[in-house]
Amino acid sequence: MSDDRFDLVVIGSGPGGYVAAIRAAQLGLRTACVERYPSLGGTCLNVGCIPSKALLDSSEHFAHARGGLAAHGVRVADVRLDLPAMMARKDKVVGELTRGVESLFRKHRIERVHGHGRLVSAGEVEVSGEGPGRRLAAARVLIATGSRPAALPGVAFDGRRIVHSTDALALERVPARLLVVGAGAIGLELGSVWRRLGSEVTVLELLDRIVPGADAASARLLQRALERQGLRFRFGVSVRAATVEGEEVRVEMAPAGGGEAAVETADVLLVAVGRRPCTEGLGARELGVRFDDGGRIEVDGHFQTSVPGVHAIGDVIAGPMLAHKAEEEGIACVERMAGQAGHVNPDTIPGVVYTWPELAWVGLTEDDARERGREVRTGVFPFAANGRAKAMGERDGHVKLVADAATDRLLGASIVGPRASDLIAELVVAMELGASAEDLARSVHAHPTLPEAVKEAALAVAGRTIHL
Ligand code: FAD
Ligand code: NAI
Repeated sequence: MSDDRFDLVVIGSGPGGYVAAIRAAQLGLRTACVERYPSLGGTCLNVGCIPSKALLDSSEHFAHARGGLAAHGVRVADVRLDLPAMMARKDKVVGELTRGVESLFRKHRIERVHGHGRLVSAGEVEVSGEGPGRRLAAARVLIATGSRPAALPGVAFDGRRIVHSTDALALERVPARLLVVGAGAIGLELGSVWRRLGSEVTVLELLDRIVPGADAASARLLQRALERQGLRFRFGVSVRAATVEGEEVRVEMAPAGGGEAAVETADVLLVAVGRRPCTEGLGARELGVRFDDGGRIEVDGHFQTSVPGVHAIGDVIAGPMLAHKAEEEGIACVERMAGQAGHVNPDTIPGVVYTWPELAWVGLTEDDARERGREVRTGVFPFAANGRAKAMGERDGHVKLVADAATDRLLGASIVGPRASDLIAELVVAMELGASAEDLARSVHAHPTLPEAVKEAALAVAGRTIHL
């Protein structure tokens, strides 16, 4: 019989929970991780970051083979889609990574407990599942239960015609007409996947722009690029109801500010209007854990909830719902439990939308900075003037930097362009180290590379860009 006393019980094995468990084990804590799904890795590995990127990469290859290679002098004939093979490859990638987490657990002697975890007291987690229940005694508990897709009132998911992201990652056929509600990360990424594979895609968005929260000018550039790929956008609309009629979905929508309703039909409706924290059946409320108005668990600077000994991290607490944010919080949280000085800087958490071109940002946008009354200077450099981007055949996008007008310290960056997800890392490090735009501008960047566009944008902050 296993010993059910632990230094730490983590509930949830997403990137927040499994990374926290590994770090805790490294620090010498006897650790268990409770997960109700059959595989480890949470939303991110199973139905989020990883499968969506696998499909984005595969569909990018398909679109390139169909339309983009001829410009490079590569003629290919008879390009056909094998959707089952594409999906099988995605599942293989997911399987390899989730099994990778299993082996990391074994290596670090973390006990994996399969079942639904419920807090019965600050030091006790009850696990129920198929087999007999178990009660784990824990000196500390870490809630890392993540999030699930938000639903729209009047729109019931049926998993086939009215779907959320999990279903949209596994459609068996390419829908001829796909309607997407929400022009955020999921809507644009999965909208891009199915557009590249042949769907007519229309994105319905409540606001007047895509990716709210990102730099407005960069979002406009991305929107134009996506429109050139055939995505259509309708802004200022709110979906009121959707019903499945035979083989199609009938979607009723109205202008967000009020007005006459309109109806559109589609083969599949993807609802991507955000995610909600997962706390049902967790026992946290009953224990007195405080929640905010959005249903997320409130924590202090040590990721400690209002109940001593109970901590929380990741999508279930405030902040952007991102895997790397959850991971860093998990590490900082358990390091603090071990008396170390773990820390997450909320000002340097990058955001990325993995379309093509990609959109990536960190820190303040120009509008954010001005709204906070900060005097700023900006520097913008387009990829159309970058030699490597030209060689690649990539002309869309720019690098935009925001620096404090008085000190030149970098406050934020926004990149729309090829591999923006990789390029943003330089800006994250620069901001972490308190760099100025001048520091970036004077750092040698290899030629010819995409990061030279970052250097040129830094030069542009001081009005002395070379290649424009
Ligand atoms: P989760 O990953 O949600 O994990 C929580 C785990 O807890 C789940 O496995 C759940 O089964 C388990 N659980 C919940 N309640 C209980 C309970 N009571 N008992 C036992 N187990 C329980 N983020 C990025 O940074 N980059 C991306 O490219 C990206 N792409 C995404 C694409 C899609 C389609 C989606 C949906 C999300 C994407 N995200 C991305 C967001 C990312 O997946 C989440 O921010 C991240 O997974 C949050 O990690 P977490 O550990 O807080 O929770
Ligand atoms: P989101 O919050 O990114 O975008 C939702 C969009 O839907 C917003 O533009 C919003 O204005 C719009 N919206 C809300 N209600 C609406 C309504 N009634 N009608 C029309 N539009 C409406 O949420 P999304 O895309 O569902 O993603 C959920 C979370 O998952 C995000 O927080 C994101 O961080 C994370 N994620 C991250 C990815 C990445 O890092 N690349 C990829 C996918 C998801």
